[in-house]
Amino acid sequence: MSSPKVLIAFYSRKGSTEALANAIAEGARTEGAEVRIRRAREFVGHDIMSKANGWVDSAAAMNRRYEEPTEADAEWADAIILGSPTRFGAVAAELKAYIDTLGGIWFQGKLNGKVGSVFGSSSSRHGGNESTLLSLYNPLAHLGLIIVPLGYADPALFKAGTPYGATHVSAGDTLKPDADHLEVARFQGRRVTSVAKALWGAHVIGAPS
Ligand SMILES: Cc1cc2nc3c(=O)[nH]c(=O)nc-3n(C[C@H](O)[C@H](O)[C@H](O)COP(=O)(O)O)c2cc1C
Repeated sequence: MSSPKVLIAFYSRKGSTEALANAIAEGARTEGAEVRIRRAREFVGHDIMSKANGWVDSAAAMNRRYEEPTEADAEWADAIILGSPTRFGAVAAELKAYIDTLGGIWFQGKLNGKVGSVFGSSSSRHGGNESTLLSLYNPLAHLGLIIVPLGYADPALFKAGTPYGATHVSAGDTLKPDADHLEVARFQGRRVTSVAKALWGAHVIGAPS
């Protein structure tokens, strides 16, 4: 039996969502997953990016670390985990733009029955983490993924994160995810991988044979 394949596709500008992505990858690998971590790309020009302090440099640095997610990555994966910073209570346009490239394989039914899960970061405590994660559930449902939430299935969830997915509150980008938030993210990676493994060989009605 080969390893379950997990795609973690995220957008991040200041590094919080990136840190959660890496902790999720760590958790997935402990369950035996082969992991691809990909960063969605900006589609605005240098003129816009240069107006926000540090954006050009942080994007260039992260883009050196992570390839851009592709349609082929989504087709390759048994599980797709999407991460986004909150943008006015919803998903970042950069990640949404990646999701919107999946129309072709969606139409061919190739994503049906894969596992899906989400995570993210906001600046303030009630600034929209949960609404962002829930807004990401919508495309997961349309793509035909089997959504895996976290519930309170691990003691880590009583200290950090949300039942919908791992989160972080960055307080104006002054804080990076602490041990409790990273623990939730690792749990997410383990849990999603375990569900992908459990579905191996099972016939999910509607999934490609
Ligand atoms: C255009 C824009 C909109 C944002 N909207 C929100 C928001 O609605 N609520 C919030 O708490 N933070 C908001 N933020 C802040 C980011 O979500 C927050 O800094 C997050 O931790 C960044 O994650 P990253 O380090 O992965 O880039 C916004 C940031 C930008 C640039």
